[in-house]
Amino acid sequence: MSFSVLGTGMYVPPKVVTNDDLSQIVDTNDEWVMQRVGVHERHISERETAADMGYQAALAALENSGIKAEELDLILAASVSGESISPSVSCEIQNHLGVSCMTMDINAACSAFDFMLETAAGFFARKKVKKVLVVGAERLSRLLDWTDRSTCVIFGDGAGAVVLGEGDGYIDAVFNVKGGNDVIDIPQPVGSSPFYKREQEKKPCIHMKGQETFKFAVNAICKDSLRVLERNGLTLDDVSYIVPHQANKRIIDFACTKLKVPKDKFYVNIDRFGNTSSASIPIALAEMNRKGMLKKGDLLLLPAFGGGLASAACLLRW
Ligand code: UT7
Repeated sequence: MSFSVLGTGMYVPPKVVTNDDLSQIVDTNDEWVMQRVGVHERHISERETAADMGYQAALAALENSGIKAEELDLILAASVSGESISPSVSCEIQNHLGVSCMTMDINAACSAFDFMLETAAGFFARKKVKKVLVVGAERLSRLLDWTDRSTCVIFGDGAGAVVLGEGDGYIDAVFNVKGGNDVIDIPQPVGSSPFYKREQEKKPCIHMKGQETFKFAVNAICKDSLRVLERNGLTLDDVSYIVPHQANKRIIDFACTKLKVPKDKFYVNIDRFGNTSSASIPIALAEMNRKGMLKKGDLLLLPAFGGGLASAACLLRW
């Protein structure tokens, strides 16, 4: 027993920040950000926490699937930007929904949505659950160094969610983890223990070596995608849409050229939302669903990559 997607939902905060707005804060301009990253604008939270946005996306996904919150057996959530370490974001969403099912957060940065789907698949396989809510929710604006033009122009806030029910839509996934903090690092504050000795405290914000991340990402999209297709006897021709983590439009363009697939096979919305980490794939799915792009039987390939370093690619039949 596996699962199928019953419904999708998304939420982004109302405030839109354009590249022109950012050029008032750091030394940047629309032309550079569009050319190097492909982001024109992003939504930035003024009030909502990651969990608040996750809750709104969850409500939308529940409505879209026709499932009541009380029917949920499990809530999985991912966020690198939740307000508290405890309660977890999934606990907060559960509390907002007023239900009592099991909840669990998965920490796999930008690849977390794929890690959550695989985790959900395990629960379905063991027949422990019938309905599962999966949410990626991020207030990355909380973690940005707003004086660092090489990172603050890339990211955005938002949440995406899917509701899963018993079915045979989820086919397979591959995962690739190369642990280490030298390429992407989001440290927590060191704390004030009088006993803990650390030479230098790194600012608790997103630190990223852009070009190394870029190379890792292009390689990961291509390798993971081909591996998961090959081991299921499928090819890129069988895939209706590739819905990648939206990290940088140029990463997607490079992967597109390397994989030799037509551009319109890749769904791209980074121009309007920026990189929303764990929320980017479920936001893309919710948009595609809302636009009526997804037909029953469509094969979707979901490559994701980012902090960890970690990457993954899932195959999902709609
Ligand atoms: O989801 C997590 C995964 N993250 C990613 O996938 C990010 C992957 N990496 C990237 O997207 C790109 O490497 C960046 C967008 C971060 C940077 O683009 P780049 O083409 O690698 O630029 P660069 O770091 O080599 O910088 C080129 C120049 C530098 O100036 P100089 O030294 O050549 O004079 C930077 O200072 O561009 C400058 N620069 C900027 N200029 C205007 C860096 N950021 C900006 C900016 N506006 N915002």
